Amino acid sequence: MEIREIIKKKRDGNKVSREEIETFLNGYLEGMVTDYQMSAFLMACYIKGLDDEETLWLTDVMTSSGKRFDLSEMPGARVDKHSTGGVGDKVSIVLAPLMAAADVVVPMIAGRGLGHTGGTIDKLEAIPGFNTSLRFMDMRNILWETGVVITAQSEEIAPLDKRLYELRNATATVESIPLIASSIMSKKLAEGLNGLVLDVKVGAGAFMKTPEDAERLARTMVEIGNSSGVKTIALITDMNEPLGKAVGNALEIRECINILKGKEEADLSELILTLGAFMLIIAEEIVTFNEEDTSLSFNEVEITDDLIETKRHKLQSLIDSGDALAKFVEMIESQGGNPEVVANPALMPVASNMKPVEAPESGIIQFIDAEKIGHAALLLGAGRTRPDEPIDHAAGIILNRKSSQEVSKGDFIAVLHYNDDRNLDSAYQLVMDAFKIDKEPPPQRELIKKVIL
Ligand code: URA
Repeated sequence: MEIREIIKKKRDGNKVSREEIETFLNGYLEGMVTDYQMSAFLMACYIKGLDDEETLWLTDVMTSSGKRFDLSEMPGARVDKHSTGGVGDKVSIVLAPLMAAADVVVPMIAGRGLGHTGGTIDKLEAIPGFNTSLRFMDMRNILWETGVVITAQSEEIAPLDKRLYELRNATATVESIPLIASSIMSKKLAEGLNGLVLDVKVGAGAFMKTPEDAERLARTMVEIGNSSGVKTIALITDMNEPLGKAVGNALEIRECINILKGKEEADLSELILTLGAFMLIIAEEIVTFNEEDTSLSFNEVEITDDLIETKRHKLQSLIDSGDALAKFVEMIESQGGNPEVVANPALMPVASNMKPVEAPESGIIQFIDAEKIGHAALLLGAGRTRPDEPIDHAAGIILNRKSSQEVSKGDFIAVLHYNDDRNLDSAYQLVMDAFKIDKEPPPQRELIKKVIL
């Protein structure tokens, strides 16, 4: 099969076969297909799209390029959560140990931040010693011991996706729904899961800016998951405003520790409990584990508001009892981190300087633009614009106020934490611009917009 013919087929908007996708992608791995041919193919996919079947085949080939966890002999359900990325989104760091405390096994492969969005791996690396570059065997051993592991994508996991993502980043082909869906799901399907809850973000601070695009992405990923034997549910959630009050790596870990110690943080706690409730529903209601032969079956379950509420209560009680925090400590220890950070967060990097941002006028906060806050944190050193750039784990922003709260002119609405002041003025201006203040209360915005089953 001629490589050029496959590119031409997609360029002209025709469907490519499973065999053609395999030939093309495996040829790339073996060095028979060049970067420029792959770039042309990706651009053709970006412009002409891929249907559900093509997207599923692409995902499967990418997953098969690496190892897949075989955790079938582990008792109970293995369920993960994945977010498409946002600002202040630290949900995974609380949710993974919380679910493990509820006896759900969580084998999580997470990402690093790029551009204005943060990444779970960067946040965890703010904890001294925390190892996020685990080998497959280490992940397995840790999972057996603690029931939870969070690690970065390594060469062993969907290596083809890693190479394609770098190429997409360099060729402006990231923002394609089938390419994003297959990239995310190729890693999730390597985790040996029974269930997956996807948090598809929509709004100013998200990849998907419109509800229509968010829903298309969610449906594509749910379809891939379900047709691959992983019970998959997606929630479409708001990412117009940062989640919680901290943005920046060590600052976000501090916020997670506070939540695990029982402090509530309106939007963040709401999202953690709801996503967790869906994970628990999959683990406890949908997946049945047969002790005799370790096989699994899926049950049809009606997901009612009462059922969700019951599961939320269960998770809240695991926070109140301290079990979730104890599991977090265990998780840190098992990955080589210093668990003392829980009692003493100042053991994580702390910025040498702070600068408060004053409210320019009195009124009620209407909106805090997540994208602007994310860019400001990036300028302070908390993020990166290239995949290999170092970051400053101490840098970031604390939002003292959130939407719907009243402020008086001169109140400190946010505080910038920084070590390097090169971009301080631009960051300050971005944070000022991010806050929209007016006289009337803002309209109520829904955090959880839709559930895709
Ligand atoms: N995250 C991924 O893993 N892949 C994408 O393509 C986009 C976000």
